[in-house]
Amino acid sequence: MEEKDLEQVVRGLLRAKKAVAFTGAGISAESGIPTFRGEGGVWDKYPPSRFGNLLGLSWEWLVNPGRVKDFIKDVLEAFLQAQPNPAHLALGRLEALRILKSVITQNIDNLHEKGGCHKVIKIHGSLDRARCSRCGALRLMGDQGLREIVQSLGIRKGRRVGFLKWLGYLLGECESCGGRMRPDIVFFYEALPMDAWSQAMAEAQSCDLMLVIGTSGIVYPAAQIPFLAKRAGAEIVEINQEVSPLSRIATYRIEGPAGETMGKLFSLLESKNFREWG
Ligand code: OAD
Repeated sequence: MEEKDLEQVVRGLLRAKKAVAFTGAGISAESGIPTFRGEGGVWDKYPPSRFGNLLGLSWEWLVNPGRVKDFIKDVLEAFLQAQPNPAHLALGRLEALRILKSVITQNIDNLHEKGGCHKVIKIHGSLDRARCSRCGALRLMGDQGLREIVQSLGIRKGRRVGFLKWLGYLLGECESCGGRMRPDIVFFYEALPMDAWSQAMAEAQSCDLMLVIGTSGIVYPAAQIPFLAKRAGAEIVEINQEVSPLSRIATYRIEGPAGETMGKLFSLLESKNFREWG
């Protein structure tokens, strides 16, 4: 990564009236949460046809409940151990400086919030929330709630009940209507949460700079977001270790790890008299 590329991005951020970030699993990789795709990714160990959708999981549950429990345990433990890295922290500080107006994320971890961002639009839901399948009421489980779930995984026997019913036992009943709770995350073949998706589209269409960090850009409709921003005239800054389908619309591309890159970028922004620069 060349310093002059970073300088251009810093100048762009300082010029921008509304900068927004769009993030994917790559931003949390340096926090120890595996990405989905690529070597060592979640889908490498747990194929998405069996573990990435509710039908696949229900079937897997019938034939191999221990494997489903391992999957849930791996995901939850990674979530619980992870801490925000310099990329999450830099976004939090850019928000505090009123340069960054929102983060649209595909991630279901809570590292943007822990990194100091307040306006986080989670288009694929959040692992630390449960949602009622009947009335839609949400319940925040927090880290403590997730720790209790990890502990109870070893106690609750599988196989005797269907997967969704078992999940309902794990998550408890809805406090509003007594309905069955499920994780508030978007599995494959499910619709995105309408509120979050409308907000994400509105942010994309009204920003003038979008930081696109650590996403493969191949999962739709999420991957439309940078295209909406581009069509509305925004500059696109891609930060990724690899080239992606979004690279072709990038105004600037910085190839490198998100944590290291965003850390350097923020130090550069801080070290300059940025009012003069802007
Ligand atoms: P992917 O796993 O598809 O892609 C991760 C991206 O991050 C790749 O482009 C990597 O090159 C890049 N990357 C990896 N490590 C990095 C690092 N340290 N710094 C910068 N970039 C890095 O993850 P997503 O694009 O987030 O959907 O995947 C999108 C969706 O696919 C997810 O939200 C999930 C998944 O199926 C659902 O769960 C609905």
